[in-house]
Amino acid sequence: TRVLNPYDVVVIGGGPGGYVAAIKAAQLGLKTACVEKRGSLGGTCLNVGCIPSKALLHATHLYHDAHANFSKYGLVGGEGVTMDVTKMQAQKDKAVKGLTAGIEFLFKKNKVTYYKGEGAFVDATTIQVKGLDGKNETIQTKKTVIATGSEPTPLPFLPFDETSVLSSTGALAIPKVPKTLAVIGGGVIGLELGSVWARLGTKVTVVEFADRCCPTLDSDVTDILVKTLAKNEKIAFTTSTKVVSGKKVADGVELALESIKTGKTETLTTEAILVSVGRRPFTAGLGLDKIKLATTDRGFITIDDHFKTNVPNVYAIGDVVNKGPMLAHKAEDEGIAVAEMLAGKAGHVNYDVIPGVIYTMPEVASVGKTEQELRKAGVEIKVGKFPFSANSRAKATGVEDGFVKVITDAKTDKILGVHLVNSQAGELIAEATLAMEYGASSEDVGRTCHAHPTLSEALKEACMACFAKAIHS
Ligand code: FAD
Ligand code: NAI
Repeated sequence: TRVLNPYDVVVIGGGPGGYVAAIKAAQLGLKTACVEKRGSLGGTCLNVGCIPSKALLHATHLYHDAHANFSKYGLVGGEGVTMDVTKMQAQKDKAVKGLTAGIEFLFKKNKVTYYKGEGAFVDATTIQVKGLDGKNETIQTKKTVIATGSEPTPLPFLPFDETSVLSSTGALAIPKVPKTLAVIGGGVIGLELGSVWARLGTKVTVVEFADRCCPTLDSDVTDILVKTLAKNEKIAFTTSTKVVSGKKVADGVELALESIKTGKTETLTTEAILVSVGRRPFTAGLGLDKIKLATTDRGFITIDDHFKTNVPNVYAIGDVVNKGPMLAHKAEDEGIAVAEMLAGKAGHVNYDVIPGVIYTMPEVASVGKTEQELRKAGVEIKVGKFPFSANSRAKATGVEDGFVKVITDAKTDKILGVHLVNSQAGELIAEATLAMEYGASSEDVGRTCHAHPTLSEALKEACMACFAKAIHS
């Protein structure tokens, strides 16, 4: 055991929250270390989350597009396009490896000391690192940032085996296209990874507890998304349904389903199941009890507006905290803000303007409040909607699904929410996010010149529909 001079900051966890916090802290002149036990940096996002899922979504979209749409553009031979799943997985692995190695390079460049191992509190300023190489080290630090992230929540009666009972991690690594797949939980992971395998020919059935998928999204958005996935990818949706029990059988997994509305029960047997009922904070092995760090009853670390926990000099950010959505960009922004605060500057995250994207086809993106939330809160609103079927670029490219919906305060015209369904929704939401961050009105966006022909003109027109009238619909 070796005791070093104290670090200014030790970050535990090298995901998008932790690695960004570490780099920013070092850039601001703090002596910084980051402890990561996975063996590679980038956390859930780079290793088993955002990046590998988007690699598979892209590859399977190309395959599906070739079969479903090439002929309409006069391209002959789309049906002859085949998929080599091993190669698809290899491309995904290569993308992940390149990016995680890139973060290691950034650590060197910015002089962040990287400890490969599991970090645990001995006390509030002493961290023990159980090295992946079997060696233990004890490091002293003035301040610590916990960024240990989250893990998939299992079904209580059916633990993950990653062969037939899959978490997202297993569903990203399936070596051969399964014939059937039940997706338990029609949220973000369920729809994205359900889509990946449905596009390759798997018969996917989504079983959702709530009365609609992604129940926190604007209902106009989920309605069209679910209809399109059912039509284009033949995904079957069973909502208002709970899985009451399940067991592994010779040819896969057998689930007992019960309708919440009628009480009717049925059995569903599939080759594999993907359990995507949410993620839970990960703090196992951290030794939080040693420093009496407070968590919520669901295990999230409690923080104040300055990322401070109840223990002096211990901060927390990212998926593990009881604040904001479990998203990589939220974790990154918190990483920057906490580092700035630790360096004596003012860091800030605007939790009201955090975009969310589902990378299905079409993509779904939203920022701000939904119409349902605002109406429930009694806010007087205006809603401007513009369909992509009336947008010239969408028409020219033949990808006309979806719409833009802009919601404004009826009195002030301030934009309160933007909800988008489109093949490029994830990119288009950036403009709406920037507008909202600047407190824009619909008129501000509607009177801004947008290039023609672009999909972004649909946002301009939806804004025009709020404060005046759209031209093209
Ligand atoms: P994590 O990324 O979970 O990183 C925490 C790290 O801490 C882990 O690497 C872990 O090994 C390490 N760790 C834990 N305990 C210790 C310890 N004691 N010592 C040392 N290291 C420790 N978000 C998006 O914004 N966009 C997306 O498209 C998206 N897609 C996703 C797809 C999937 C399939 C999944 C599962 C998630 C996706 N997410 C997406 C969510 C995103 O991955 C998380 O919000 C993000 O990774 C959270 O970052 P974090 O730094 O808080 O935690
Ligand atoms: P989620 O919270 O998005 O969805 C879970 C769904 O499961 C909900 O619709 C919920 O009603 C349903 N559900 C819960 N318990 C159930 C049960 N017992 N039976 C049936 N349905 C049940 O969680 P998900 O999809 O697991 O993703 C976890 C987190 O990862 C998300 O909160 C998201 O923040 C992040 N993520 C983000 C992505 C993105 O930004 N594109 C992609 C993937 C994940």
